[in-house]
Amino acid sequence: MTDYLIAPSILSADFARLGEEVDSVLAAGADVVHFDVMDNHYVPNLTVGPMVCKALRKHGVTAPIDVHLMVKPVDRLIGDFIEAGASWITFHPEASEHIDRSLQMIRDGGCKAGLVFNPATPLHYLDYVMDKLDVILLMSVNPGFGGQRFIPGTLDKLREARQRIDASGYAIRLEIDGGVTVDNIAEIAAAGADTFVAGSAIFNTNDYQATIEKMRSNLKH
Ligand code: DX5
Ligand code: ZN
Repeated sequence: MTDYLIAPSILSADFARLGEEVDSVLAAGADVVHFDVMDNHYVPNLTVGPMVCKALRKHGVTAPIDVHLMVKPVDRLIGDFIEAGASWITFHPEASEHIDRSLQMIRDGGCKAGLVFNPATPLHYLDYVMDKLDVILLMSVNPGFGGQRFIPGTLDKLREARQRIDASGYAIRLEIDGGVTVDNIAEIAAAGADTFVAGSAIFNTNDYQATIEKMRSNLKH
């Protein structure tokens, strides 16, 4: 059976109470903390950096922290996030001058490495780096904001990415980010995803545990 992971995105959390919010989603059954880093340059929004990741570790968060870098340039922040306690680090290939090197830096720092694809970014960036990947993250919205609608064409792209992963023989997670809800999670899993980022669908509900349980139960059917 596929081992599905649910990764709430802190972008939709109450930032004034971030530590408590992360504790709450983890207590509610989340597997991974999805940490969106935006630089007002690669994407039109500005969020948080390594200091906040470090603060979550200091607060006592032991779950994996999945750092999604929406920044350009990429490399300098990789070292900072490794230091800050990141577990996974993913970046957008078109934002890196040297994709292979960025991936290697992440793995050399002991983190899991991944590439992120915007809705219209072709998967050919995968061609020569499958052996250096632990995760492939497909964006199902244009990056920058939470609460957007899932772009349906991403389902075909998921199927294509799933085929590439299976053909490669590597253990690479297939993560989806953007517009994931209780209602569409089953269809997204059927297309090949095994790791689900969800921001507004979790944080905009009152009962995180009930929402995560519904997601898991929909993944079983
Ligand atoms: C968007 C971010 C997402 C975002 C998802 O650029 O990468 O992680 O928080 O939010 P929802 O789940 O609300 O679409
Ligand atoms: Zn994200």
